[in-house]
Amino acid sequence: MAHTLKGKLMQRLWFRVSVGLLFLCCSVPTDAADNENGKDLLQKNCGRCHALAAETASPLKEAPNLWIVLRSYPTERLEFELAEGIGSRHKDMPQIQFSSEDIYKIESYLSGDR
Ligand code: HEC
Repeated sequence: MAHTLKGKLMQRLWFRVSVGLLFLCCSVPTDAADNENGKDLLQKNCGRCHALAAETASPLKEAPNLWIVLRSYPTERLEFELAEGIGSRHKDMPQIQFSSEDIYKIESYLSGDR
């Protein structure tokens, strides 16, 4: 009786460990690819005015460096603004509503090292 219970617990534990490992091993390479996509998305939509990498100057000098501005936003605000269209506040800025998939990509780019 006690033996079977222990066996079941072990089985559950192993299941969790292997699911964890599966997640770890498979999510790392996709993250790396997503980083580029996030930057591409910003480049395509915002890059003609804003700088997107640390220590670069914006093509349009009034436009702040997005790497710095967007990284300073708390996650909820960033998600909200990207989904609603940050551009609404400034007449020259296009009002782009990113999909949640795009937002995820942009977030992974912004959470990287540069
Ligand atoms: C046509 C040029 C242009 C494009 C394209 C553009 N912006 Fe801007 N953006 C500006 C200018 C100019 C400012 C600074 C003036 C201001 O804050 O109103 C600015 C300001 C901002 C700010 C700062 C707002 C604040 O709270 O101070 C954010 C964030 C921002 N832009 C995000 C974006 C994002 C994200 C995109 C791409 C989806 C984008 N912009 C595309 C011109 C642009």
